[in-house]
Amino acid sequence: MAYEVKGVIASGKGEPVGISTVVVPDPGPGEALVAVQACGVCHTDLHYREGGIGSDFPYLLGHEAAGVVEAVGPDVTGLAAGDFVILNWRAVCGQCRACLRGRPWYCFATHNAAQKMTLADGTALSPALGIGAFAEKTLVAAGQCTKVSAAIRPEVAGLLGCGVMAGLGAALNTAGVGRGDSVAVIGCGGVGDAAVLGASLAGARTVIAVDVDDRKLEWARQFGATHTINSGASDPVEQIRELTEGNGADVVIEAVGRPETYQQAFYARDLAGTVVLVGVPTPDMRLELPLLDVFGRGGALKSSWYGDCLPSRDFPMLVDLHLQGRLPLDKFVSETIALDGVEEAFAKMQRGEVLRSVVVL
Ligand SMILES: NC(=O)c1ccc[n+]([C@@H]2O[C@H](COP(=O)([O-])OP(=O)(O)OC[C@H]3O[C@@H](n4cnc5c(N)ncnc54)[C@H](O)[C@@H]3O)[C@@H](O)[C@H]2O)c1
Ligand SMILES: [Zn+2]
Ligand SMILES: [Zn+2]
Repeated sequence: MAYEVKGVIASGKGEPVGISTVVVPDPGPGEALVAVQACGVCHTDLHYREGGIGSDFPYLLGHEAAGVVEAVGPDVTGLAAGDFVILNWRAVCGQCRACLRGRPWYCFATHNAAQKMTLADGTALSPALGIGAFAEKTLVAAGQCTKVSAAIRPEVAGLLGCGVMAGLGAALNTAGVGRGDSVAVIGCGGVGDAAVLGASLAGARTVIAVDVDDRKLEWARQFGATHTINSGASDPVEQIRELTEGNGADVVIEAVGRPETYQQAFYARDLAGTVVLVGVPTPDMRLELPLLDVFGRGGALKSSWYGDCLPSRDFPMLVDLHLQGRLPLDKFVSETIALDGVEEAFAKMQRGEVLRSVVVL
């Protein structure tokens, strides 16, 4: 049996997204069918639409989601119909070289559904990040479903499935921010603000938010930024140094994905400091740095994929912190919209009007 549902499709590079019928197969071995309740609009969805991630159109967009399991494949254990889950794009395999070395957050062979979702005419769809959750139902690998407490609102829970986890994890896991550190975050959208929140949660003493938009800086303060810099108006490298006794920050997190902001991050950190790149660049981008500076400034230049998270370890913990009132995840939800509001949500994202628009089904 298969289900016909509505889904948001990007059919070609740069073309506006539209709603089409999506055919979702019944779950086979290792798979789960999930009734999506909420799915956030992430900048990565826009990257897909713009052809910045690949050219496997048509894409079924949406990957920051929570919902309820409707059915599982014949051999699936530990997951059942009725479970409230956050969807993840890191269903670790347990067998690749990263997993075998005890570093499953790098897993190089993560699981996705084996069967394809299709358009009504049979055209196979590429689900964004192996999820495809701007749809009433989606088919994923069972391991992509992480059970969490159903006490959290779905539109809040879903955000942990990508951007908020990426930002929190960039600070907590990749950078390993600790008590007393100085941290700067360049780019304060949903991902950057989550990094601000993560740094604050980890006990950073100074948390500097940098953006070109004053509204974003105002919001960053609500997530724990102690200082803000509008980098359209003044040089962020100088400003960050001034705020850190002339030294630069211990950790600088880049959450834009552009060579110029990476360069700012590189020079705004203290000697032996850490740069974490979370923003996703496009294939045409190039970086030029004096190799002597790479050597002479020392420290660590890291990239953070999905906040180096382990969904099974991190999602239930972060949901609990939220339910205890210690992690204000609800502040990321700027608005809730319907499936047909995704294209307009991209425009709002580009105009800087929202942190997260969340599709509620
Ligand atoms: N590494 C990962 O696992 C991961 C996961 C999710 C998203 N991302 C990426 O993170 C990035 C941010 O995502 P988002 O959803 O927060 O996007 P967003 O569009 O909501 O936020 C981007 C922010 O950067 C700001 N900005 C733009 N140009 C700037 C500049 N020159 N200097 C300073 N600030 C600038 C914008 O004003 C905006 O506030 C994207 O590239 C996205 O693809 C990465
Ligand atoms: Zn693996
Ligand atoms: Zn995302």
